[in-house]
Amino acid sequence: MSGSPITIFVCVTCRLPIDGNENDFEKPGGELAAAIEARLQDAGASSIDVRPVECLSVCKRPCTIAFAGQNKWTYVVGGLDAKSHAAEIAAMAQRFATSEDGIIPWKERPLSFRKGVIARIPPRNLSNNGKS
Ligand code: FES
Repeated sequence: MSGSPITIFVCVTCRLPIDGNENDFEKPGGELAAAIEARLQDAGASSIDVRPVECLSVCKRPCTIAFAGQNKWTYVVGGLDAKSHAAEIAAMAQRFATSEDGIIPWKERPLSFRKGVIARIPPRNLSNNGKS
């Protein structure tokens, strides 16, 4: 795989209520991080770093992740399932790494990404014309 180094931050402190009970919960972020990492290893995507973090301040949308890379828009995505979305996120990360500015055309985004995007944050070097 080609592309620039990127990081997928995965919140490992998100609480997912079990049967709607706020006092009974699991923390699926660690499982999601491991599943994404395994798929990236299978794909040989060694330039993509998966980094567990504590809280991305989107606690009501577990599991939550963020894609970040030099000169790229940062995406924060929530509502991800550790079991069913890891493959899509790994594929999306590879696409993100090979993109010029981190923006992936809508039709190329998996459904979990389309539905889950919470924010996109411009790169620090964004010019006045909106280009990085
Ligand atoms: S605990 Fe996961 S975003 Fe806050």
